Amino acid sequence: MSYRRSIAIDGPAGSGKSTVARGLARMLGYRYVSTGDIYRALALATLRKGVDPTDEQEVERLALESRIELHETADGGQRTFLNGEDVSDAIRRADVDGVVSPVSVHPRVRAWLIGLQRSLANERDIVMDGRDIGTVVLPESEHKFFLTASPEERARRRHKEYEAKGRAVSFDEVLQGVLSRDAIDSGRATAPLVVAPGAVVIDCTNMSVAQVIGEMLRALGRTGN
Ligand code: CDP
Repeated sequence: MSYRRSIAIDGPAGSGKSTVARGLARMLGYRYVSTGDIYRALALATLRKGVDPTDEQEVERLALESRIELHETADGGQRTFLNGEDVSDAIRRADVDGVVSPVSVHPRVRAWLIGLQRSLANERDIVMDGRDIGTVVLPESEHKFFLTASPEERARRRHKEYEAKGRAVSFDEVLQGVLSRDAIDSGRATAPLVVAPGAVVIDCTNMSVAQVIGEMLRALGRTGN
């Protein structure tokens, strides 16, 4: 197997990881993979099957019997498939937001889903975003970033996204949702959200997407804008 290059971007909900990862991948000619969609697809499966997201055995059983695939789109984006169905829009719904972090806590479920993530990184040079990419999924990545922003700014960005999609939700609800996912993702025993050793931390509270990508390109030794 030939050696592939990988860039890991981790960070909390609403930090802009996916937008930045996608833009960076496009500039470098790498594939972009957002691993949260894998956990979101499994979370959607629990809702559809009426599986208790806190029941590790049941969630693991569902993970083993579900076919989750990430397909690259012609414009460098990603579509998510669950058992052959395109669920890219369904996994962004509020009910999925509500169960995805509890579903993602289970060690055996994570162990199973890591295989899928690593196989994607073996196929192509990759920019991968998530919570544990630099620490667990691709610890050997030569470049790691931890993208963060204040909770209020992250909630503001999410709220704007929801409004654009016509999703009626108050800013306070979005902020509570972000804080609650932060607490579960950072507090879990397995693969918690932490800064990976050697990661470049970027607080993008007051930065544009272009500025963040520019800073990453500089860290990668390429000239930023
Ligand atoms: O886009 P957003 O920041 O809201 O989250 P996401 O990247 O879509 O991830 C959704 C959830 O999946 C996170 O809150 C984590 O609970 C879980 N996740 C994880 O545990 N490990 C990853 N590598 C990616 C996501």
